[in-house]
Amino acid sequence: MEKVTVLRVVVLAVLWLGLLSGCGSSEERTEFVIGFSQCTSGDNWRQLMQDEMHMELAKYPEIDLLIEDAESDSYQQIQQIKDLVARGIDLLIVSPNEAAPITPIIEEVYYDNIPVIIIDRRINSRLYTAYIGADNEEVGRVAGAYAANLLGGNGRILEIWGLRGSSPAISRHDGFRQSLEGFSELTVVGEVDGRWEKDVVEEVLTEDYLLEQDIDLIFAHNDRMALGAFLVAKEAGIDDELHIIGIDGLPGPNRGVQFVQDGILDATALYPTGGVEAIRTAVNILYDQEFSKENILSTIIIDSQNVDVIKSYSDRITALMNSYDEQLTTIREDRRKHQYEQFMYASLSALLGLLLLGISLLLFSSRDRNQTFRSRIASMEKQISSLATIGVAGKVPAELEADTEAPQPVAEDADAATEAGRTEKEEAFLRSFMDAIEINLTNPEFGVKELCAELGMSRVQLYRRVKGILGKKVSDYLQQRRLQLSKELLREKEYSISETAFQAGFSSPSYFSTAFKGRYGITPSEFKQQMLNKNND
Ligand code: FRU
Repeated sequence: MEKVTVLRVVVLAVLWLGLLSGCGSSEERTEFVIGFSQCTSGDNWRQLMQDEMHMELAKYPEIDLLIEDAESDSYQQIQQIKDLVARGIDLLIVSPNEAAPITPIIEEVYYDNIPVIIIDRRINSRLYTAYIGADNEEVGRVAGAYAANLLGGNGRILEIWGLRGSSPAISRHDGFRQSLEGFSELTVVGEVDGRWEKDVVEEVLTEDYLLEQDIDLIFAHNDRMALGAFLVAKEAGIDDELHIIGIDGLPGPNRGVQFVQDGILDATALYPTGGVEAIRTAVNILYDQEFSKENILSTIIIDSQNVDVIKSYSDRITALMNSYDEQLTTIREDRRKHQYEQFMYASLSALLGLLLLGISLLLFSSRDRNQTFRSRIASMEKQISSLATIGVAGKVPAELEADTEAPQPVAEDADAATEAGRTEKEEAFLRSFMDAIEINLTNPEFGVKELCAELGMSRVQLYRRVKGILGKKVSDYLQQRRLQLSKELLREKEYSISETAFQAGFSSPSYFSTAFKGRYGITPSEFKQQMLNKNND
């Protein structure tokens, strides 16, 4: 077989595969990526928050969630936020480990026009798009009022702090103290740093301290630390006499609600995770729907009075969540199976096509390179590459810009075709972006506004996305495509300049001429003349 023929087969095969894989992947396009910077994923409260997020996100298969776990390290969290931004996220959700160190980076992201949702812990600034979480001062106040009532206004209290630099710890402390004001016989005899963790409490709180200080009540900033305190009190043999109040009120075994039911805690203040609300708000922001900046979730005290009711509700919710989770897994498996089948089908068709092509080539080339067959191949190639121009949209700019007859400076746009480094998601997005443009290219009424409507994105979102991938403005890209089309029309058709302008989607011939000259350095008439001269040569 001639070298040229082999080359053609390879080109055809590549185009074929490109087209087929393009078809296969078009089904589930990722339109948005949400980055979630979680201060830690290592406890059950945060696990519930993430489960809630995934559950709510299951409704939006076009949205991806990237979660980064900062492992309670603020400096790691700053780095992870930077990485998420570099990966091109459309929105950031963040639960800051500590307020002060995380504030500057959040302000930076916000100034970068990336919407930011703060969840649970706050920063020291108002520069964010939305906040989701309960009012921690109120949570502290509710716990304080409960403590005062339980002790009859008289007793010795120990407060166990969460991480000092994190906003819930500060606010819970403030609220708790506010409720104790006016009770002169209530004394907070000590404070211990538990940093939100049970193990830390077991390490820093000693049996001797509890006995010496004659503590009546322990207020811990969360239930995990409250459990740690209970275990120390048990060792000291005073767990029966001591009152303990925690915060979180998680459902499920070995968590807050269960601790109250088992008598380990006197009470816990419910602190909802806000996972569902965060995703709902994110979706509203991404789709330009209304949303509130401050979303304050409510709290209640869970104690022996209401724990049974709460437990039966929370059990039902947990069961529902589990069954939902199972259903989700099944749906995902089905989807994966379907995608695999599609992929296999596409690959087999491509292989079959190749095989047929190879056999035909062998047959025909053995008949002394039959001329008719060659011209058939040539026309097939043409058809496939024109199909590829529309179908494999990511390749459009390179192929069109490779036009050697184009006047200077055409090569400047070769950058648009730099595919190296584009992720699959970006390719998928480009495909729908370019399809929308190709279909409407000749319509002068079609501009950036109409493009946004067609893609279901806001101007800002589209701008950022396209700029990030192609390195150019949406309007520039649209105009570039129209100018390329006009060049082809001028080269191939007998249209006048005004007719060409309208055919290429320009609303006025004079604007078309200016834009053409601006881009190619010569007027459309000069270009047309050049083409005529060339044809006559
Ligand atoms: C979980 C947690 C909760 C607490 C919250 C405060 O990591 O420690 O127990 O209520 O963080 O941000």
